[in-house]
Amino acid sequence: MNRSLTTLFLSRLNITLHRLKVVDSTNTYLKSVASNLPSSTNLEGIAATAEMQTSGRGRMGRTWYSPTGEGLYLSLLLKPRLEIERLPLLALTCAIAVYETLHRYLEQGIDIKWPNDLLVHNRKVCGILCEAAFERSELLYAIAGIGVNLNQKEFPEELNSATSLRIAVGYEIDKEDFLHELLNQIDRWYAVLESNSDEIRQAWTNRSSYAYGKKLLLPDGCSGTTRGLTASGSLLIELEDGTSRTLRDADL
Ligand code: BTN
Repeated sequence: MNRSLTTLFLSRLNITLHRLKVVDSTNTYLKSVASNLPSSTNLEGIAATAEMQTSGRGRMGRTWYSPTGEGLYLSLLLKPRLEIERLPLLALTCAIAVYETLHRYLEQGIDIKWPNDLLVHNRKVCGILCEAAFERSELLYAIAGIGVNLNQKEFPEELNSATSLRIAVGYEIDKEDFLHELLNQIDRWYAVLESNSDEIRQAWTNRSSYAYGKKLLLPDGCSGTTRGLTASGSLLIELEDGTSRTLRDADL
């Protein structure tokens, strides 16, 4: 495999970035890195990018469109110091970091669709897939996989609700600059997650139109209105009959 390594010392995370040309999926790659290292190894901060993925994976078993060079495909191995039931907040943390990175390029029009899709002008520009490995009930590691549509000029017909940052701003995005800013934002918000995860809930709420008062049709056909996040990052919904429900993971 064609691979080069870069090391970055950030405030909270020391990143060892494996830069790959082609890989099936950067998440799958990091899983195999983690399982081939001695169990005493500090995995946190090992990361991978690829120029293209042959089997990019999305949430709910979907595939992630990963054409050569045009998108950013990034995964990071992390082990947050966090109560295990709050682990879903890791994906929300990454979404905030992507939001802030996009905000360097775009003043307006960015939204986070629950749980962690980034939208620009109501079209999807980034998806996040967090996976975790446990031994008994202890977290061994989590992998945060982030796919950002950076420089696509168009999308296949079936992805008609996708967009790219380039389409939104009208000029070509320097992938290295974007990556550098994103890693710094992840480092910053990861430290917030570990020191006070309620701040993550607040930061997510401030950036998402889905947090409060959004009328939604749920996957089972019920209708409801969003009423904020629970402590562990589930979405609280008030149904039309006045009862409430929490959504842990779903497509809305
Ligand atoms: C989704 O919206 O369904 C999540 C998409 C996540 C895609 C990224 S690209 C980098 C990493 N590697 C993968 O195979 N998936 C994630």
